Amino acid sequence: MKRILAFESSCDDTSVAIVEEDYSVLCNLVSTQHAHSEFGGVLPELASRLHLQNILYLTEAALKKASLSPQDISALAVSINPGLIGSLIVGLSFAKSLAWSWGKPLVTVNHMLAHIFANFLAVPEIQPPFLALVVSGGHTELVHFHTLTEFEVVGKTLDDAAGETFDKTAKLLGLGYPGGPAIDRISTQGDPSFAEFPRALKRKGDLNFSYSGLKTAVLEYLSRHSPDYIVQHQADLAASVQQAIIDPLIKKTLACARQRKIETILLAGGVAANTALRKQLSDQAAALGAKLYCPPLDLCVDNAAMVAAAAFPKFRAGDLAPLDVNAFSTKGTRTL
Ligand code: KG4
Ligand code: ZN
Repeated sequence: MKRILAFESSCDDTSVAIVEEDYSVLCNLVSTQHAHSEFGGVLPELASRLHLQNILYLTEAALKKASLSPQDISALAVSINPGLIGSLIVGLSFAKSLAWSWGKPLVTVNHMLAHIFANFLAVPEIQPPFLALVVSGGHTELVHFHTLTEFEVVGKTLDDAAGETFDKTAKLLGLGYPGGPAIDRISTQGDPSFAEFPRALKRKGDLNFSYSGLKTAVLEYLSRHSPDYIVQHQADLAASVQQAIIDPLIKKTLACARQRKIETILLAGGVAANTALRKQLSDQAAALGAKLYCPPLDLCVDNAAMVAAAAFPKFRAGDLAPLDVNAFSTKGTRTL
């Protein structure tokens, strides 16, 4: 049985996992850096330093938890883009050092692709072709997979990502950081049709996303109403903003599935944890005769098991990284 030891350090979670080739997760340890919350966002240098401090201990703990030693590991995998460059460099340098000293192959993985492959950890039988909607803090992309390794990005955000929009609008509504979970929670008590916020790029056939106008619309709305009114209607406003963020995600994903006759849809990324998005996309996909897969909530957050899952097809194909490979911060699922 082939086993991959994988590392994830692209943002503010340090994670180490060991996964077998049938996608069984032997361990998936995640150390979340709570130190950023007092700053209202992730501080890149602090993130790098905390990865540096934690990664070795997490690796020792992962091997211990799985009762394995280095000789039981077939390959190492690490995410190298996109993300905070300092954080990525910590994970990559560590993975390279182990690959060199243990004499094991190294597989490098795109972080967005890893989010998509989190779905295989829950349902290993998923077969291409499928459409993946990846929605995270920094990215929003619609990707058509023809095979596990050949894919086409058919839509992407032209400005802000969906997760970033949750975070920014939550801040404006006084809901704190990270905004996505806070909006998700309070929206369950609100009316999504309370306030009408704009949905951009509604033209038929346009599969791109745009969220920059939404933040301005929320700012304008808040400036027209008193602080008391806003506090009184916080849940309704959160639910209305949430619906304005998820509507285009749902509509464009289903339009693309219909156009391209794709019957399998995978949701992925941090925003895939959103209750309303999971429910509405699942219901509307079913009405179209398509099946939606969402990762379990603990696999929607950044974790190394998804990095291992995305590394297996590359490892099997012999697509290994040289030890002078570099990390890069660039956006997107295109660069692998
Ligand atoms: O995938 P991720 O860790 O970030 C990147 O890889 O870029 O996702 C983090 C994002 C944050 O913007 C956070 O607010 C959002 O995912 N998020 C949510 C929920 N949980 C996390 N957004 C909406 N509803 C949620 N339940
Ligand atoms: Zn992520």
